[in-house]
Amino acid sequence: MSALEREGAISRQAYRASGEEVALFERAFEQRLPVMLTGPTGCGKTRLVEHMGARLGRPVSTISCHDDLTSADLVGRFMVTGGDVVWNDGPLTRAIQEGAICYLDEVVEARHDSLAVLHSLTDHRRTLFLDRAGRALQAPDGFMLVCSYNPAYRSSLKELKPSFRQRFVTVALDYLQPEPEAEVLVAEAGIDGAVACRLVECASSIRHADDAFHLEPPSTRALVSAAKMIAAGSSELAAAEVCILAPLSSDGAITGALRELAVASLGAAK
Ligand SMILES: Nc1ncnc2c1ncn2[C@@H]1O[C@H](COP(=O)(O)OP(=O)(O)OP(=O)(O)O)[C@@H](O)[C@H]1O
Ligand SMILES: [Mg+2]
Repeated sequence: MSALEREGAISRQAYRASGEEVALFERAFEQRLPVMLTGPTGCGKTRLVEHMGARLGRPVSTISCHDDLTSADLVGRFMVTGGDVVWNDGPLTRAIQEGAICYLDEVVEARHDSLAVLHSLTDHRRTLFLDRAGRALQAPDGFMLVCSYNPAYRSSLKELKPSFRQRFVTVALDYLQPEPEAEVLVAEAGIDGAVACRLVECASSIRHADDAFHLEPPSTRALVSAAKMIAAGSSELAAAEVCILAPLSSDGAITGALRELAVASLGAAK
């Protein structure tokens, strides 16, 4: 099974929409426009891309961006193999050839010069110039570029250029409302609805208090992990401690204050 097929296999997972994002994504795909997803950690950005890949019948190829990512890492490079110099396509080039959805995760982590190669691909030209190989690759209709980042991690050093940002249909995601978020926990972990509601209430109280603590709020991902620990036999408080509270802060005073909020939501349960 190729990497693309593997990603295809996990892409059937359910996505619960929080707004119009599915329709917006579909329209952007139809119009061959690239999409930028923003939102806090664990709010469903990756899940949405997997879901849309399945919905649109396109494989998804994910590239995690980081400081050291070069344009050659995206596009490809000449390599010496058995005495011959052979061109090796990078993941972006392969995704274009396969008409895939190419998902650049945490794109804000990549350097500007590495992203410059995307400019001609994300405007009306839809063309990737493989300068070193002396080729130009026209993206087929099935190809789509999707990027994502978490605005909370942004620093002035890591701002995307306006010329890059304005190429994208930008969809801001956030955590689901309490009821659908609890339904996600039930669907993902198979826990009881009442337990799911208590976990969501616990997260909501911390999210509402997070201005005072200056923390990234607890994510749906953390809640799903807590729900899975409960499904495996943990008590609700123990699951909240290891999946929600401990990952938020290593400051004992802050964790203590958050624990009081958790106990208020979960305290009635064992
Ligand atoms: N809208 C949603 N519908 C269904 N499941 C969701 C949704 N949002 C979050 N989840 C659950 O939370 C988990 C984390 O979501 P996901 O990996 O998509 O977050 P993310 O926004 O990509 O986070 P990060 O920025 O950290 O990569 C998923 O595996 C899923 O279990
Ligand atoms: Mg993600």
